[in-house]
Amino acid sequence: MSILDKHHFIERNATLLLVGSLLVVSIGGIVEIAPLFYLENTIEKVEGMRPYSPLELAGRDIYIREGCYVCHSQMIRPFRDEVERYGHYSLAAESMYDHPFQWGSKRTGPDLARVGDRYSNEWHVQHLTEPRDVVPESVMPSYSFLKTTPLKIVDVSMDLKANRAVGVPYSDEMIASAKADLSDQADPNADTSGLLARYPKAKVGDFDGNAQSLTEMDALVAYLQMLGTLVDFSTYDDAAGYR
Ligand code: HEC
Repeated sequence: MSILDKHHFIERNATLLLVGSLLVVSIGGIVEIAPLFYLENTIEKVEGMRPYSPLELAGRDIYIREGCYVCHSQMIRPFRDEVERYGHYSLAAESMYDHPFQWGSKRTGPDLARVGDRYSNEWHVQHLTEPRDVVPESVMPSYSFLKTTPLKIVDVSMDLKANRAVGVPYSDEMIASAKADLSDQADPNADTSGLLARYPKAKVGDFDGNAQSLTEMDALVAYLQMLGTLVDFSTYDDAAGYR
C-alpha cells in the first residue's frame, strides 16, 4: 500500500480518523503539559526568598482588594528598556509564594515588582493619599482613606495557615507569633529581633507616619517597601544561578 493509499484508507474510515487525530493531538498536549508536572525544575534556585511577614501579607490583601493590579503589573520582562528602567528582570522564584500571583500585563502605571526601597515611606503615604501632590500629571486614584482605616486584625494566623495549605512554608512558630509579628513590625518601640529572624530583611518601623495606630496604610506601605528586595542580584549570575 502506497502512502497515498494509506491516507485514503484512513480518511475514508471515520473511526480510524478520529482515533488517529486524538493520538496526534495528545502527543502535542503531553509535550506541552508534562514538563509542568515537574514545576520545581522550571523555578530557578535563588537565595533570600521567604514567605511574606503577617503585615506584608495584610498589605498584599489590601493591594488585591483595591485592585491596584488593574493598573500595575509585577513582572519585569527581560528586555533592555525594562531592565534599565525597573531593574533585574523578574525571576519565577520571586513570585513562588504569591497566591494569586500579581504578574499582569496591563500597565497604566509603572511595574511595581521592584518598587521596594525606591521611595521613602513618607513619599508612599503622600502619593497614596493624593498622587497629584507628588506627580502632578498622575491619573492614579487617591487612597487617602487607608490612613484613617484601622487595620482589621481578625485572626491573621488563619491567613498564614491558608497560605501554608497551598504550599507556602510557614512554620508553626510563624503561625503562633503571627498576631504579635503583625503589630510589632509597625511599632517603632517593639522588640523586632524575633520578627527579623523569622522574616529576614523585613522593613520595620512606623510606615504611615502615625505611631499611635495601626492602619491599612501601614500594611500597604510595608508590602510596597519589600517588593523586589529579597533576592540579592549582586550575587546572582543569570547564566549559572549563584556564583
Ligand atoms: C487607574 C490606574 C491606577 C490604579 C488603580 C493604581 N495606580 Fe498606582 N499609578 C498609576 C499611574 C498612572 C502611576 C504613575 C504616576 C504616579 O506616580 O502617580 C502610578 C504610580 C504608582 C506608584 C509609583 C511607582 C513608581 O515607580 O514611580 C506606586 C508605588 C503605585 N502607583 C502604587 C499603587 C497602589 C498601591 C495602588 C492600589 C492601592 C495603585 N497604585 C492603584 C495608576 C494607578
